[in-house]
Amino acid sequence: MAENSLSTSELQLELVDKSPRTILKRAFEKFDNIALSFSGAEDVVLIDMALNIKKDIQVFSLDTGRLHPETYQFIEQVRNHYKINIELLTPDYKTLDHFVQQKGLFSFFKEGHQECCGIRKVQPLQRKLLELDAWITGQRIDQSLDTRQNLPAIQEDSTFSTENHPLVKFNPLAQWSSQQVWDYIDAYQVPFNTLHSKGFISIGCEPCTRSITPNQHERSGRWWWETDKKECGLHAGNLK
Ligand code: ADX
Ligand code: SF4
Repeated sequence: MAENSLSTSELQLELVDKSPRTILKRAFEKFDNIALSFSGAEDVVLIDMALNIKKDIQVFSLDTGRLHPETYQFIEQVRNHYKINIELLTPDYKTLDHFVQQKGLFSFFKEGHQECCGIRKVQPLQRKLLELDAWITGQRIDQSLDTRQNLPAIQEDSTFSTENHPLVKFNPLAQWSSQQVWDYIDAYQVPFNTLHSKGFISIGCEPCTRSITPNQHERSGRWWWETDKKECGLHAGNLK
């Protein structure tokens, strides 16, 4: 049974500057009904860490239908490597059919990514989050200079909480650098997405992600044709 005695703000104070492992451990102590949101990229370290704390973790990925073949292969590799189930969440087919019939497969290049991300990512996530009390993401402060600089290790999810359904969000890697994540992958022989060996750092959907050069910031490869702040809606609270 999870304990519920501490409030989110008390837990926030307790977990300031704590390691990702400690944050994960407290997340699982506090919530039974909690799931890890796995993008198919370097956030795989959270699965590795979490399984050392708890065997029966819930993991889900948002299958937009537009991920790279390498990412689908990697999700399957992770499923087999750790012998876990990864729940794949798909968009509502009626909404998607209508959208594609109206706007085609690449509307985001002309109209911006928000509508497509809304249907393929945000709505399926919202559906899933209604079942949960808390979720865990792989977001880090160093991933974005303009949207993730104030990212806490734990927060009330201002985007997906409702009046009747408060939702807590854990970001255990918030304080870690990309280097620390990759050191962990190396040290513990964690499997990784082969796209990372092809110049991809931040990985999203195939049409909307490209590899970058060493002097570019990692999120410049995402929705590169747009100049707005690069958030797709999963973490819309970062824009407030
Ligand atoms: S995004 O909002 O720009 O797409 P990003 O790629 O930085 O997010 O990933 C940050 C975290 O968001 C991931 O570690 C993961 O927890 C969650 N996330 C992003 N994309 C997905 C996805 N397709 N499926 C599940 N979780 C995801
Ligand atoms: Fe659609 Fe691109 Fe968003 Fe994926 S990242 S859901 S393809 S707009």
